[in-house]
Amino acid sequence: MLETMRQPLLELKDIKKTYPGVQALKKVDFDLYPGELHFLLGENGAGKSTLMKILSGSVQKDSGTILLDGREIAITSPRDADRHGVAMVYQELSLFPALSIAENIMAGRLPRRNLTGTVDWRRVHAECREILKGVGLDISTTTLAQDLGVGASQLIEIGKAISRKARVLLLDEPTSALSVHEVERLFSIIADLLGRGIAIIYVSHKLAEVSRLAHRVTVLRDGEKVGTLPVNDASEATLIRMMVGREVTDRYPKEIVPIGKPALEVEKLSLGRRVRNVSFSVREGEVVGVFGLRGSGRTSLARSLFGLEPRDGGTIRVQGRLTDIRSPVDAIRAGLGYITEERKLGLVLRMGVAPNMTFASLGSMLRYGLIDHAKERQAALGLVERLRIVTPHVHQLVEFLSGGSQQKVALARWLCARARVLIMDEPTRGIDVGAKVEVYRFLSEQAREGAGVLFFSSELPEVMSISDRILVMAQGELVATFNGGESTSDDIMAYAAGGSTNGPGGISS
Ligand SMILES: Nc1ncnc2c1ncn2[C@@H]1O[C@H](COP(=O)(O)OP(=O)(O)OP(=O)(O)O)[C@@H](O)[C@H]1O
Ligand SMILES: [Mg+2]
Repeated sequence: MLETMRQPLLELKDIKKTYPGVQALKKVDFDLYPGELHFLLGENGAGKSTLMKILSGSVQKDSGTILLDGREIAITSPRDADRHGVAMVYQELSLFPALSIAENIMAGRLPRRNLTGTVDWRRVHAECREILKGVGLDISTTTLAQDLGVGASQLIEIGKAISRKARVLLLDEPTSALSVHEVERLFSIIADLLGRGIAIIYVSHKLAEVSRLAHRVTVLRDGEKVGTLPVNDASEATLIRMMVGREVTDRYPKEIVPIGKPALEVEKLSLGRRVRNVSFSVREGEVVGVFGLRGSGRTSLARSLFGLEPRDGGTIRVQGRLTDIRSPVDAIRAGLGYITEERKLGLVLRMGVAPNMTFASLGSMLRYGLIDHAKERQAALGLVERLRIVTPHVHQLVEFLSGGSQQKVALARWLCARARVLIMDEPTRGIDVGAKVEVYRFLSEQAREGAGVLFFSSELPEVMSISDRILVMAQGELVATFNGGESTSDDIMAYAAGGSTNGPGGISS
């Protein structure tokens, strides 16, 4: 199909971009055909978002050429991008929260009545309804943007772009915050758009999405293009090798370590209607995976264990001792460590990489009561190397790191601290393949040293591969428990989706 179209819709030649201390793009060529989904892959910090931002006009390239239909164009502002039909679909709302969907979509070009010059609201809502229909959304045009979930907002962004005659859509990790159901809906809209000749540049760390969506894949590494492949030549192994620059043989490393005494015992924990009467335990050396779909109460459970949302009832014991966790400070004191799903919550963006990493383990960084900066630096350097964090130096402000590198810094904090019970909520979201392997290794190491690990995830393959035991949550309750290796993904999904309470393993602790 693509071979028959000789003229790319969009062509990038020799694109370069340097930030202070970082060459984000070295000399990148890229092209895109009408109706094509071109997947952009690469490790954290490889330059993917930078390329997208240059196309959407929010960042200026230093040099290089952008051609549209074979003619050079200048994109120096989001306005230019819009004029040329290039639209970035933001995940976080670029919608105005307090305005209705209709007002958001039609902002800046509200149709007016000829005679009076007043806004023709009937037409606004009628046009808006068409747009919503186009992206398969069945909601009222008067709904306020602030009342929409991520999935719906994203679709509206797409609808808005299409109504503005966008020919190129830029999607940067669009599925990272969607439910299984929303992902399917997005994919079917994508298929429809491609069929209508719209072209898409798509960034994601989920390799399974490549074969599902892409026509071609381009891999970036350290700001350089490693290569472009048609999807049929792009096996996961090939792509990983291109991204990481080496062979990754075991994607889910897991050590078998002796299981000891209970590290965490939770009894009848409740938090409103979101977590109901949840009881379980995690032993020393054990990795317990908690699987649940979005909205199952997974994150609420993690947050209440760590004291971020005070529970209404229930008890929490750490190494046999009853605790009274009412705040994160209580939780840390009791020996819990927590990695949040929302990476920015855990980070101080205006602080450097090193202090962010050593934050929770200051005790071990002191010398005569002062922070030992040499020691802090040493610890940070080791972690930067291990997780392959792209940063010019360990004092770079975290706000200037790529999204995935920020997540890695948040993880690194707990690689420094020594928690007795480690609670990790979606720790691998948004990070690249190589770093995922490091996270799994880290879990195993922690377990080997006697920590209990509670690992919340919505990625079935990882839950199934690295857990000793799997708890399934649905509608705020624990609905099933499986021993590692004793369940199929169908079993787990059935419980997660159905919320039935008669699991084969029952609800044991
Ligand atoms: N505003 C900025 N100031 C300084 N450096 C920046 C800035 N924005 C990005 N960078 C750096 O440019 C490089 C490329 O970042 P980019 O966000 O494009 O990576 P990415 O491929 O999207 O990674 P991820 O998968 O983590 O999202 C990184 O080293 C990043 O730290
Ligand atoms: Mg990015």
